[in-house]
Amino acid sequence: MSQLVKFNSVSKSNVSNVDFNNIPFGKIFTDHMFVADYFDGQWCNFEICPVHKLEIHPGNLAWHYGQSIFEGMKASITKDRVPLLFRPEMHAKRLNFSARRMCMPEFPEDIFINAVHTLVNLEQNWIPPQKGSALYIRPFMIAMDEAIGVRASDTYKFIIFTMPVGPYYSKPVNLYAQDQYVRAVVGGVGEAKTAGNYAASLYPANIAKKEGYDQVMWLDGIHKKYVQEVGTMNIFFVINDEVITPNLDGAILSGITRDSVLKILKDQGNKIIERQISIDEIMEAGKNGQLKEVFGTGTAAVIAQVDKIKYKDQIVQLDPANWKYSTMLKNYINDLREGSVEDTYGWTVPARNAFNVTKQL
Ligand code: COI
Repeated sequence: MSQLVKFNSVSKSNVSNVDFNNIPFGKIFTDHMFVADYFDGQWCNFEICPVHKLEIHPGNLAWHYGQSIFEGMKASITKDRVPLLFRPEMHAKRLNFSARRMCMPEFPEDIFINAVHTLVNLEQNWIPPQKGSALYIRPFMIAMDEAIGVRASDTYKFIIFTMPVGPYYSKPVNLYAQDQYVRAVVGGVGEAKTAGNYAASLYPANIAKKEGYDQVMWLDGIHKKYVQEVGTMNIFFVINDEVITPNLDGAILSGITRDSVLKILKDQGNKIIERQISIDEIMEAGKNGQLKEVFGTGTAAVIAQVDKIKYKDQIVQLDPANWKYSTMLKNYINDLREGSVEDTYGWTVPARNAFNVTKQL
C-alpha cells in the first residue's frame, strides 16, 4: 500500500502557533490531510498533503443534492506521548453504512484505518495533552460530479483532516424537547451520518437557543412522543436504578460512544434497557423524583451531563448530587482514551505510520 500513497509534507509545521490551553472546538486545523478520489468505479490518487482549499465546480452534485457523509473520531496522547486511536474500525464500518444508504461508494476499510493511523502518527505533536482534550479526526466523502439533475454521482472525494480540540461542552447542557419539528423518521436517513441531518437540525436548534437551551431533544417523527436522540448525541436516562436508552429503530444514529457506554455499564453488572421511551414517561419520572440523571454520548461530547429538560410548559431540573453513572463514565472513557487505565476492551490502539511516509521537515 505504502508505494501507492503520495506524501507531500508542509515545509514548516504550524503547531508552535497554537495555544493548547485555549482551543476553540473545530476551528484550528493541523498541517496535513489525507485525500483520495473515486473514478471509473475505483478509489485512487491516495495522498497525504498539506491542508488546502479544494477547487469545486458550481454544479457539484453534493452541493445541490446532498451526497455528503462524514465521521467524527478522536485520538489522544498518553503521558508517555503515545498517540492512541479509539475504535477506528467501528468508524470505518459506520462510514460505509452511511455510504450505502446515500448511494455512495464504500471506502476500503483497511485503507481508511491505515490512513487514520498514518495521519495521526504524523500529526501527533498536535494532540493536546490536557485532560479531556484530543485530536478530532474528520473523515468525510462528497460527490464530485459536475451536473444538475437528481442522481447519484459517479465521482467522489474522500478526505480526512484533523483538529486539536478542547471539550465540546464545558458545562452540563439543557435540552429542549421539540414537539413540532422532527430530525428523522424510520425509513429516512436518520441512521446515516449525512450532512443533511445536521442541516435539518439548525432551525429547531435556533428555537431552542432563543429560549436558552443548548440542544434539541428529538422526538419520533410519527407520534412526536418517543425520544430519539439529542442534537449531536445519543441519550441515556437513569430512572431509579435502571439505565434506559432509546433502541436503534432505524432513525437514530448508531453512536460508537453509545456502544462503548452500553458495554461498560453491562460489564459492571448494571441493568441496561434499550427500548422506546416516551417524553411523558421522562417528565413524569422527573416530577416524582425517579429521574436520577440524564446524559448524552457522542465522540465530540464524550459524556455530556444534562442539567434541565423542557417539554411544552413543563421543566424538569436534574440534581447533580445523583450523577453517578455519567460521572463514572466520563472519567472512565476519557481515562481509557488517554491510556491512563488498562484497556481490557482492546478499544485503543497506538497510531502507527502504516503508509511508511517520511517527514521532509
Ligand atoms: C461527533 O460527535 O463527533 C459529531 O460528529 C457531532 C458533531 C456535531 C461534532
